[in-house]
Amino acid sequence: MRAYLSLFSTLLAASSLAAPSAPQWRFDLKKTTSGIVALEAIVVSPSLVVMFDRASDDPLQINNHSAWGALWDLETSTVRPLDVLTNSFCASGALLSNGSMVSIGGDQNLFPGNPAIHPGNNAIRIFEPCASPDGEGCTLFEDPVNLRLAAPRWYPSSVRIFDGSLMIIGGTHVSANFYNIDPENSFEFFPPKDGGVVRPSAFLERSLPANLFPRGFALPDGRVFIVANNQSIIYDIEKNTETILPDIPNNVRVTNPIDGSAILLPLSPPNYTPEVLVCGGVAVDPSIQPAELSSQMPATSQCSRITLTDEGIAKGWEVEHMLEGRTMPELVHLPNGQVLIINGGRSGFAAIHQVRDPIGNSNADHPVFTPSLYTPSLPLGRRISNTGMPSSNIARMYHSTVTLTPQGNILIGGSNPNNHTVLPGPGVKFPSEFRVETLDPPFMFVERPTIGKLSKTVPFARSVTVPISIPSNLKGVTTQVSLMDLGFSSHAFHSSARLVFLEHTISRDRKSITFTLPPSGRVFPPGPATIFLTVDDVTSTGVQTIVGSGNSPPTLE
Ligand SMILES: *[C@@H]1O[C@H](CO)[C@@H](O)[C@H](O)[C@H]1NC(C)=O
Ligand SMILES: *[C@@H]1O[C@H](CO)[C@@H](O)[C@H](O)[C@H]1NC(C)=O
Ligand SMILES: *[C@@H]1O[C@H](CO)[C@@H](O)[C@H](O)[C@H]1NC(C)=O
Ligand SMILES: *[C@@H]1O[C@H](CO)[C@@H](O)[C@H](O)[C@H]1NC(C)=O
Repeated sequence: MRAYLSLFSTLLAASSLAAPSAPQWRFDLKKTTSGIVALEAIVVSPSLVVMFDRASDDPLQINNHSAWGALWDLETSTVRPLDVLTNSFCASGALLSNGSMVSIGGDQNLFPGNPAIHPGNNAIRIFEPCASPDGEGCTLFEDPVNLRLAAPRWYPSSVRIFDGSLMIIGGTHVSANFYNIDPENSFEFFPPKDGGVVRPSAFLERSLPANLFPRGFALPDGRVFIVANNQSIIYDIEKNTETILPDIPNNVRVTNPIDGSAILLPLSPPNYTPEVLVCGGVAVDPSIQPAELSSQMPATSQCSRITLTDEGIAKGWEVEHMLEGRTMPELVHLPNGQVLIINGGRSGFAAIHQVRDPIGNSNADHPVFTPSLYTPSLPLGRRISNTGMPSSNIARMYHSTVTLTPQGNILIGGSNPNNHTVLPGPGVKFPSEFRVETLDPPFMFVERPTIGKLSKTVPFARSVTVPISIPSNLKGVTTQVSLMDLGFSSHAFHSSARLVFLEHTISRDRKSITFTLPPSGRVFPPGPATIFLTVDDVTSTGVQTIVGSGNSPPTLE
């Protein structure tokens, strides 16, 4: 049998040295479609992904009407509808410390043909932990009268914080054709703090009008980094103060409707120094009205990276470039610490039919079909590559999603720059996209390490020993244990996504591993996690647990 080289050396060698039998990255189109546009997606169990769309005229039916929620089964690549009461269009969400998934906000508008709809902009939707592998009997809990956000929020974002609750950021009230002209410039929490009163945000005020879906990250000291438009801050939840950071350089904007994306790079012990990367968007001034913008305006290739220490902030953003411009890209953590750059187009904007030269209803054009990999540890200028990456032929434009799965591959769905279902046909370049693909890394096609089951919860700062197996051909030159929140994908952003590398030792017989959990909920907010073992760039299937007590987050009056 041919010896398998590590993924990294395979990638480096791929251009010069033909290695015909070496496993490659590949796209895999699933036979079943998602039935709803996968406009939002979050992994909620080892085998299930919750997907949301707008309440509309999707083909998937439930109780005699079009569904707009669904459970995608990662084991069988099949879908089952989920009954949703409120309109989940352009919502956000995350997992809480007790394992429940919470989806928040949405559209207050109703869809004429679909009878079973309630306004969504104050909505809180709860999906309790689901033990059934295929989702049978698992439902969403909603109580639109009693369980509500303090403020109406369409296009908000959210992030799980150090006490395991959600911080909910910004949004618009009712109107959101393009810019945020009806803003909710505040934060709130779920469960509520401050007696359920919202906290006004000067930052959100300043970052109008291109500040929909702000990108926020919980930092390892418990504060929250937020970027919106071309501005960024660190917000101190406990003191209710903001520290203003430098603007994103070169007039580049990164939030809806001028979407780039952002990611908190992997955190490593012992210092867990936070670094943020933002990529894509468009270099354009948002005082320009949409009627003066065009779907053909080139997106930026700029990525900007900042280290969130005093020294790093003084140095400011370091600029590097993707292989192409991208509007609406998404940035996804891979267990080995690389970042996948995927989806989006080379020109234009988010939102529907607002700028000049629309392509059908799309404000964006020139889909990018080939993903790239960003390697944070490489020197500036050498970090981004698409060597060895395959190309899809499915455009993933506005309203697309992507998520890493517990299996270790990447699930991709959605795309719909239309107000309702538009089927493929002559002259339709960007239809409502129901096709689902995975992007499968090379390690899916070789013998992989395995990692044994964990207990339901694992406490902070504790060392845990579990059985593992490592294929004999892997030397173990590099070993990584990654503790991950797989995040909530919506509008070119992965809310709450996180990768913390764990200190670990592998037993001499390579049959067990001992790793140490992060010191506190500031480094990894208490809640569900997927743990992967990577040996010489070959990654195991992930195992799931809850870090912390598994208790419900506090309500603070
Ligand atoms: C769906 O519609 C059919 C025909 O109109 C009716 O017989 C059936 O009871 C309806 N089912 C539900 C769950 O409402
Ligand atoms: C950020 O945007 C503002 C408002 O458009 C602009 O005046 C400023 O120059 C921008 N900053 C940078 C660094 O481009
Ligand atoms: C889609 O909906 C938006 C917001 O309601 C509206 O401004 C726009 O005209 C609609 N576009 C089409 C093509 O129907
Ligand atoms: C988790 O906490 C939330 C907020 O208090 C609650 O609504 C939900 O039911 C809890 N879930 C579990 C499994 O306890």
